[in-house]
Amino acid sequence: MSVAEKTTIQVSLTINDQPQRLTIEPGELLLDGRRSAGYYGVKRGCEAGTCGSCVVLVDGTPQFSCILHAAGMEGRSITTVEALGSTDSPHPIMEAFAEEAGVQCGYCVPGMVLSTHALLDQVPQPDEDQIKTALDGHLCRCTGYVKQIKAVQRAAELVRTRREQG
Ligand code: FES
Ligand code: FES
Repeated sequence: MSVAEKTTIQVSLTINDQPQRLTIEPGELLLDGRRSAGYYGVKRGCEAGTCGSCVVLVDGTPQFSCILHAAGMEGRSITTVEALGSTDSPHPIMEAFAEEAGVQCGYCVPGMVLSTHALLDQVPQPDEDQIKTALDGHLCRCTGYVKQIKAVQRAAELVRTRREQG
């Protein structure tokens, strides 16, 4: 019995500001690569681009990593929620989600935090419609979304205040 030789591809990209060269298999999804590399904030949900739990930022824009091939990421900059903060040193957006009870089971939250980050980069004082548009595509089975909209409004205040304080 012959064993087919496995083909691999080299991809150079930046993950959370760290240049990396990955060896991947053709067809490997960005979602799989990130989780196997220890970026567990990237969650596996629908695997069909409809729930938002796998969102990462690609060059600053939220993208579903379950429908992106890792091979297409040559030269791109990927950001996962781990780049923003941690339990010990949370980003103001994370603080806002906690303050406003926008976190229950938490499964949807890393993706929502990243989409909030991308929104506030472009629109420091978003109105409710802009927040709903930014969170569109993120499903949450726990909160009913009202608390998460409030969390994004609070996050905008906190981010603005921290920027003003330098
Ligand atoms: S797992 Fe990617 S959108 Fe649901
Ligand atoms: S907090 Fe549980 S899915 Fe959103």
